[in-house]
Amino acid sequence: MVHRIHLLETGEAFDAAPDESLLDAALRQGLRLPHECQFGSCGTCRVKIATGSVAYEDFPPGLSPEEAAEGYALACQARATSDLAISPARRLAPCSEPARHMATVTSVRAIGEDVLHLALELPPGAQLLYRAGQYVNIQLPEGGHRSFSMASRPHPRAIDFHIRRIPQGRFTNGHATQLRPGDTLPVELPLGTFCYHEEDYRPLIMVATGTGLAPIKSILESLMDCEDCPPVSLYWGMRSEAGLYLHDEIMRWAERLCEFRYVPVLSRAGAGWTGRRGHVQQAVLEDFDDLSEHAIYLCGSPAMIADAKREFLARNASIDHMYSDSFTFQSAAAPQAAALA
Ligand SMILES: Cc1cc2nc3c(=O)[nH]c(=O)nc-3n(C[C@H](O)[C@H](O)[C@H](O)COP(=O)(O)OP(=O)(O)OC[C@H]3O[C@@H](n4cnc5c(N)ncnc54)[C@H](O)[C@@H]3O)c2cc1C
Ligand code: FES
Repeated sequence: MVHRIHLLETGEAFDAAPDESLLDAALRQGLRLPHECQFGSCGTCRVKIATGSVAYEDFPPGLSPEEAAEGYALACQARATSDLAISPARRLAPCSEPARHMATVTSVRAIGEDVLHLALELPPGAQLLYRAGQYVNIQLPEGGHRSFSMASRPHPRAIDFHIRRIPQGRFTNGHATQLRPGDTLPVELPLGTFCYHEEDYRPLIMVATGTGLAPIKSILESLMDCEDCPPVSLYWGMRSEAGLYLHDEIMRWAERLCEFRYVPVLSRAGAGWTGRRGHVQQAVLEDFDDLSEHAIYLCGSPAMIADAKREFLARNASIDHMYSDSFTFQSAAAPQAAALA
């Protein structure tokens, strides 16, 4: 049976057959719903269901059971099981439409034992407007792409990245290591819905594993010296002390952010480490009995994000104020839920 889907924001409507996703049905009828990965990972197609119900063939990795229980759905995977009224999960600040550009490498250097810093410049006409927290798809010569988050305050032409070298990684341990200044790379940007929500007016808890720090850094740099910056607690999870590739720079952020607290957490710390140990999300739980008043940003390992969402909700975190950017792998063979750090 075909169901009728109403978009509350615009008053538009479309029909969805039981065997097609809400996204496929909308696109088939000429309605553009935001989307990117189309396999239930990135969360760009997240909608809130006001009335009606949906089902999934396979429950998508980019949605937690708790979010589903609160009425959120991923349109690229959800199938309607009744008529629906839906609205976009969140209003976002404006940004450029995603576009392809040929970027030029301006620098590439190691900034940690397994992290590369890659800086690119876009062509003069690009005039990019993006939200801190968004990402780029770098196109591979043999086809396909790899995603990397912009790591600095938004700039119309200059973008940079923290790229963790994966031992078997086709791009991160292959192409990326051979790049030299002056080389060109085809990129598509800006992508993604992970960004700062200033309308929340809540103290921030930022939780990153590994290079999940990159989009968090971009967001925090955009808040530096800003009068409206809320208090910020940053938890950065790494395996070992040698992996904390931006430790000294982060320590200096306290001079430019409001009530900034930085907590590095090591999962495999050596004997000499006097700081926090264990999993980064556990460190947050040790410090906060109640998370109901915070806006929480999670970035990096899919396993950390899934665990943190579940545990933080049990500590009264607001599902409407918890944002995540899951660093899933793009190679077809990659297990989507494997941990980053
Ligand atoms: C929206 C988004 C933003 C991202 N931003 C960043 C970023 O800023 N910095 C960054 O370093 N990464 C980021 N990632 C993750 C990165 O895109 C993937 O790790 C990518 O697959 C690496 O490409 P590769 O060609 O080197 O490895 P692939 O050829 O894709 O993978 C080779 C093998 O390595 C393993 N593998 C791949 N990635 C990982 C991983 N992360 N951890 C453990 N094992 C892995 C898999 O088993 C895979 O089969 C992001 C991902 C997404 C979805
Ligand atoms: S487009 Fe649906 S989760 Fe990415």
